[in-house]
Amino acid sequence: MGESGSYACQWKVSFPGIQLGTGCFGRVVKAEAVGLKDSEEAVKTIAVKMVRSQANIEAMEALISELKILVYLGSHLNVVNLLGACTKQIHKGELFVIVEYCRFGNLQTFLINHRNSFVNLVDEFGNLKTQHEIESNNFTRKPTYGINPSIFLADFNLEEELDGNLDRSISTTNLISWSFQMARGMDYLVSKKVLHGDLAARNILLADDGVAKVADFGMAKKMYYEDCYEKRGQGLLPVNWMAIESLTDRIFSSQSDVWSYGIVLWELFSLGRVPYPGWTFPSIIKMNCRGYEYVSVNLGMDVGHILMKEILNGYRMDKPELAPKFFGEMMADCWKSDPKERPTFSQMEKVICGHMESSV
Ligand code: ADE
Repeated sequence: MGESGSYACQWKVSFPGIQLGTGCFGRVVKAEAVGLKDSEEAVKTIAVKMVRSQANIEAMEALISELKILVYLGSHLNVVNLLGACTKQIHKGELFVIVEYCRFGNLQTFLINHRNSFVNLVDEFGNLKTQHEIESNNFTRKPTYGINPSIFLADFNLEEELDGNLDRSISTTNLISWSFQMARGMDYLVSKKVLHGDLAARNILLADDGVAKVADFGMAKKMYYEDCYEKRGQGLLPVNWMAIESLTDRIFSSQSDVWSYGIVLWELFSLGRVPYPGWTFPSIIKMNCRGYEYVSVNLGMDVGHILMKEILNGYRMDKPELAPKFFGEMMADCWKSDPKERPTFSQMEKVICGHMESSV
């Protein structure tokens, strides 16, 4: 039973609670909520976020901060929505944050699971094939996840996927649709003056109809008076996704989120590869429980960080082979050294939209 502010609910965790994800500090468990406020269904599948160890103050603070951000953000299609929270026992170290359940899990794992069945709709010049070319082409495998061009949603066949059938294929069109939806979710965050701070494919969730939702607000910040903030302290940081100014001066802003978005585009069109492949990392790198690179560093002091030096010298990743040409240009723009020269999420939404309209 839990009750918190306007979020009143009565919920039980289904046994044995299936673990949906783990991080360094927290875990997410699949559960069922009974009588959730504003829910049409009597029983609703939900995801419950909790800390792993109640003694971990840092983890608890991150979850409290995430809850505050989610309450403040309210509801948007491309942001994972808060359904409720149980804060009654917070003084005893108990906090449960209930968010909507996204049945296809995180984008990175989804991409990896569908690598073998991917249908590439980009020709050798980096142009998107036209509908006519797609129809007249002899694909060994037809793109089975279609797309509804009016709303840019991937048109998924849910039942087959739920049966554990990973044989369904995704195509370039789905990747473009997700890139659009992520930009739209991030644009909403910008409109609310919220900085995400950890945008990565692992933190994008896929819900019904293939809707992409920005999730994981543990590192997010509400920008009250300034447009950027200087991160203090020793927390773990996702270096491979971080903008140049965050690496050197710990400066985070919506424009550093744009850099990370460029990295997510790279992950998307490389079907879930880890960014900067082939680079060896220094010993201070800490992997989180899922094996991702978060680093505990005195940023800026860490002159030994080879990758950081290379990025400062102008090194950038190449466009993945599967990405249409215009996405290569968009990634390069997201990774401009001067944050002011990077595009905004709203501009990128329009560019993606324009290319989709001319290809379908
Ligand atoms: N993994 C982490 N959070 C999740 C959610 N809300 N739904 C499904 N899988 C998840």
